[in-house]
Amino acid sequence: MTLKSNIHFSQNLCSDVSTLLQGVSPEQLFILTDTNSAKHCLPLLGTLTNNAKIIEVSNGDSAKNLHTIEQIWTFLCTNGGTRHSVMLNLGGGVITDMGGFAASTFKRGIRFINIPTTLLSMVDAAIGGKTGFNFNGLKNEIGVINQPSDVIISAEFLRTLPKTELLSGYAEIIKHGLISNNTYLNTILNFDLANPDVKGLQDIIRESIDIKSKIVEQDPTEKGVRKTLNLGHTIGHALESFSLKKEKALPHGYAVAYGLIAELYLSYKMYKFPKETLLSVSRYIKEYYGAYNIGCDDYPELFNLMLHDKKNTSATEVNFTLLSGVGIPVLNCTADQNAIFQSLDFYRDTVGL
Ligand code: GLY
Repeated sequence: MTLKSNIHFSQNLCSDVSTLLQGVSPEQLFILTDTNSAKHCLPLLGTLTNNAKIIEVSNGDSAKNLHTIEQIWTFLCTNGGTRHSVMLNLGGGVITDMGGFAASTFKRGIRFINIPTTLLSMVDAAIGGKTGFNFNGLKNEIGVINQPSDVIISAEFLRTLPKTELLSGYAEIIKHGLISNNTYLNTILNFDLANPDVKGLQDIIRESIDIKSKIVEQDPTEKGVRKTLNLGHTIGHALESFSLKKEKALPHGYAVAYGLIAELYLSYKMYKFPKETLLSVSRYIKEYYGAYNIGCDDYPELFNLMLHDKKNTSATEVNFTLLSGVGIPVLNCTADQNAIFQSLDFYRDTVGL
């Protein structure tokens, strides 16, 4: 079992993956990808695909289910998969989560390598070993924590990143800035998301991955310090689930960005998080992410969604990770309904609703 992933920053994906695989000499190479990544990303692996067996599954979160996992296992079984096979997971978070799970359970575990193609998966999903799939109507209900042997971050995918994908991933980067230090946070808040400079973004990604990796190394199974990574996600997940019932689903990172505004407000009210930082982060998010429309009438439904968050330890209290300062997390906090409603008021005032 891999305890710590090797992270590689690649400028030439095909040659860097070839070099890595030469050192591994897998009996068979499988590449898991989805329809979209098969079209746009797989060609970057060039001649490597000649000797690999390609497992192509449907796109999107709706395909993140047991049926697709069964499809992957069946493909491995019927195409000569052995304990010495290697699986490359090429795609966004859905692919790295499902591929990691299928590889971790096939013949009690084969080696897998993540090649994230979205910013969100580069700085979050592909790092840290959380794998799994949705089940019984619940997101990531079944899964295991098992680290990929390697994660390859390719600059080639950043050059063609659509704006929504850039923003969605960048929200997790803002979170990493908030849980680390002011110098990095200021670099993040000075980055121009309207005209992104790929070199600057690569430096930011490196630091973001380093922050997450160090936390995961200390606490891979989320008993303590890994909960820091949940900042912004309690209110963020509620907004995301709420949006699924409306006409347009909110991308995960946008929901986290709005969740950060509300949860930094709770941090300021309850733990004296600095007001200037609350305001500068909120202004940055408003400038680039705009607003997601909610009204006071939606608060009870959002609160109910928060009560069902799987991080809660009681049926009547909502659990949060908050901050008393940049880089100073306060774990296992609870906030009452009134405080949460005030934080939603602050969110609405900030984004101009
Ligand atoms: N996405 C948060 C974590 O990996 O723990």
